[in-house]
Amino acid sequence: MSMTDRHLDPGALFHNSQQWTDMERWHREVESIRRDTPVLAVSDDLHEPFWVLTRHEDVFNVSRDHANWTNTTRSVLAPDSVYDEIAANGVVPRSLVHLDGHDHVAHRHVTTDWFKPAAVGARQPRIDEIADHFIARMRELDGECDFAVDIAQPYTLRVIMDIYGVPESDEPMMMELTQGVFGSNDPEFLGDDTDPTEHTLRSVMTFIQYFNEITEDRRACPASDLATVIANGQVDGCPMGDAERLWYYIIVATAGHDTTSFALSGGLQALLENPDQWESLRDADDTAIARATDEIIRWTTPVRHFMRYATNDTIIRDTKVPAGGRVLLSYPSANRDENVFADPMRFDVTRDDSDKLLSFGIGAHYCLGAQFARRELRAFLRRLLDQIDLIESAGPPEWAASHFVSGVKHLPIRYRFH
Ligand code: HEM
Repeated sequence: MSMTDRHLDPGALFHNSQQWTDMERWHREVESIRRDTPVLAVSDDLHEPFWVLTRHEDVFNVSRDHANWTNTTRSVLAPDSVYDEIAANGVVPRSLVHLDGHDHVAHRHVTTDWFKPAAVGARQPRIDEIADHFIARMRELDGECDFAVDIAQPYTLRVIMDIYGVPESDEPMMMELTQGVFGSNDPEFLGDDTDPTEHTLRSVMTFIQYFNEITEDRRACPASDLATVIANGQVDGCPMGDAERLWYYIIVATAGHDTTSFALSGGLQALLENPDQWESLRDADDTAIARATDEIIRWTTPVRHFMRYATNDTIIRDTKVPAGGRVLLSYPSANRDENVFADPMRFDVTRDDSDKLLSFGIGAHYCLGAQFARRELRAFLRRLLDQIDLIESAGPPEWAASHFVSGVKHLPIRYRFH
């Protein structure tokens, strides 16, 4: 898309998957939208009209205002025809990000014990073990690999599948399904299908079958894993509904994997482009690594948006959003807001404002897995910094074409261990 096209349809920057394959240009173009049209009206043939919120303050306020804004079953932007087709196939999304109010709180409560800081902290030794395993894999690859495909994806998948209690032999299938749900607009993730909606549907159907079997198994033979908690989860004293249970599995499996993987591959890509910052982290203590990790998550912002629907007529800045109207929360834009972050277009692992990041959202739907994501990234970064002698780019990185969860999908690197 040229600059001229962009001025004709700035909304495409947010809903057209191809726009997400060049993030430097994306951020450059969105910078002026954030400055001049912070509440951007979008209307086209594919979507009912919506407004895009690009400023940190607006994304923050709407995310926390649960009286006036809801998520609904359409909390991810897709052409209306896609939702109609999905509904015609009997699929109505009912995961945590699609639930509101008491329903949402009660369902979230089923697993919160697993995601509390102390519980996640207790799993650190296992996360470390998995990180060691993938550092060993890097050594085996003998100095050259596609870091995104060979390391970041399988590492982050293994951590989440380990919590679930899903056997390693099922990991390749889970990888394909996750990419089918999140990245189906990218031709690379379409498998044998030609139509993205068909591919998403097929992935959802396979997930359903797989997790139905898991449910039966964990009800018959409970284990000390997350799958057992979901299989036997109670809401208001009754077993969780079938649809809610299946979507619970799907959200944790998908949200827990591609997101963190894109943060890791994109983070390394940013460090390779800024070798001084890589060097500055070599002797860094845990606090500095934690700060660098937050900067990586701010910089990469792998979740590109969620939608919110107005329950009442509302005014944002000077724009009236009528009851039933909807807004797109642009997390990558909010994370580059010059009113909040000093020199926001600079990747800076020492910045002291990276904790204001909105990559995990905020409010009742705040990312359940934020603690896991941070610990996974810190563990891996620490090991790379301690053990790698030399690391450099071995080819151009490539970004996934998806307007929902995306990031660096290929990162060829060359490296040498001590
Ligand atoms: C860098 C990695 C990650 C990013 C950027 C990320 C981002 C997000 C965002 C933006 C939301 C919606 C927040 C909102 O609406 O306010 C969310 C929700 C969620 N995330 Fe994450 N996430 C990451 C990793 C994970 C991991 C590792 C897991 C699981 C272990 C996970 C599980 C979830 C779940 C279950 C929800 C739904 C929460 C709810 O609606 O109550 N995420 N995440």
